[in-house]
Order: sequence, then structure tokens, then C-alpha cells
Amino acid sequence: MENIHPIFDKTLKKEDKEQLLNQKGLVIWMVGLSGSGKSTIAKAVETEMHNLGFLTQLLDGDNLRSGINNNLGFSEQDRLENIRRAAEVAKLFLNCGIVTICSFISPTEEIRNLAKNIVGIDSFFEVYINAPFSVCENRDVKGLYKKARLGEIKGFTGLDSPFEAPQNPSLELKTDTFSLDACKDYLIEAILHKVKV
Ligand code: ADX
Repeated sequence: MENIHPIFDKTLKKEDKEQLLNQKGLVIWMVGLSGSGKSTIAKAVETEMHNLGFLTQLLDGDNLRSGINNNLGFSEQDRLENIRRAAEVAKLFLNCGIVTICSFISPTEEIRNLAKNIVGIDSFFEVYINAPFSVCENRDVKGLYKKARLGEIKGFTGLDSPFEAPQNPSLELKTDTFSLDACKDYLIEAILHKVKV
């Protein structure tokens, strides 16, 4: 940090941006196994929030990993760095007053705490997208579980890389029990009062 002089205290405030947008910023952080339904719910929530008149931004693991995080793999260190950058980006959108919908496996308590601390606990709404490993494996939307079982992917989350279920999420959505529409509605109902002025 030597020779670095941030101007955070001299720029327009989050509240100034929120006033302009007539909404409040929030980071919705979706956690769950690959194939649990994070991205699908995130897209549905974003579309509906947009239709309700909110400015939104989607940040998705696979998307960020094809751009800003394209030099990162799936080691513990790289996952931490992936989430650190994602959370820093989410914070930029948050500070613009934007409803920022993030979907990352975020497999460990340590990783989620990192994200929460970067974003700020008051603006961090953690949603556990809960589907059992066997259900995600059966769905195998991207064909990755099959590859992981064949040993073609090493360190696959839930198989040979850890996934710690969130102990105290702001909301839990069981995608093996509830429809996409129901999950989307639950989530929007839970956050609407937080983003309305
Ligand atoms: S995280 O663990 O660092 O939070 P992130 O959400 O960005 O992961 O990326 C997960 C996506 O990368 C998965 O949905 C899947 O498409 C892909 N992927 C590729 N290799 C792996 C792996 N070893 N473990 C989990 N996901 C993987």
C-alpha cells in the first residue's frame, strides 16, 4: 500500500447513487454446488427485478472465470482469489446502488467470510442454493460430474474438493423440492424490502 493514495473518502457516496436510482444497493451472494441451480435462479431473479424497475448486475463464477479471473483454477488458493476479486467487484456495484446478484460455489466458510468482510456484513445477503450432491450429479447439466468421476477433472467440489454447507445463511432454497419459479419468488420476497427506498 506504500505510495498508494485511495480517494474513497473524496468520491460521491453510495447514498448519492442510490438516490439517483431510487433504490438501495444489495449484494445477493448465492452459494451452492455446481449444478445446484445458482445461475438459473440468479438469471430469473435478475430478469424479474429488472422488470420491477431495479438496476441489477449479475456476477457469475463461469462468466468471471472467462474474463477477469481467467488466470485462476480450482486450488484452494485460486478459489480464495476468485472470490476475493468477485467480492471486490461486487462492492463496486454495491457502491453504485446496484442490486448485485452473485453466483459462486464459494465452498468454504473461510471463503464466504472473506466475501462477507469485503462487501460488508450489512449489505451481504447469503443464499444457500441447496441441492444434495446426488441430485446435482444426476442433473449434470454441464457434464462435469461425469468427467470428475472419470478423473478427467481433479479437485471437483463435493467430490475431491470440500464443500461446507453454510450454517447460517440469510435464506436457504432447496432446489430439489421447490420449482425455479417458487425459489425466485421466495428470494425476491426476502430481499424486496431491502432494496426499496
Ligand atoms: S468457486 O469454488 O471458486 O466459487 P466458481 O463458482 O467460480 O467456483 O466456478 C464454478 C464453476 O466452474 C462450476 O459451475 C463449473 O462449471 C466449473 N468448474 C470447473 N472445474 C471445477 C471444479 N474442479 N470444481 C468445481 N467447479 C468447476
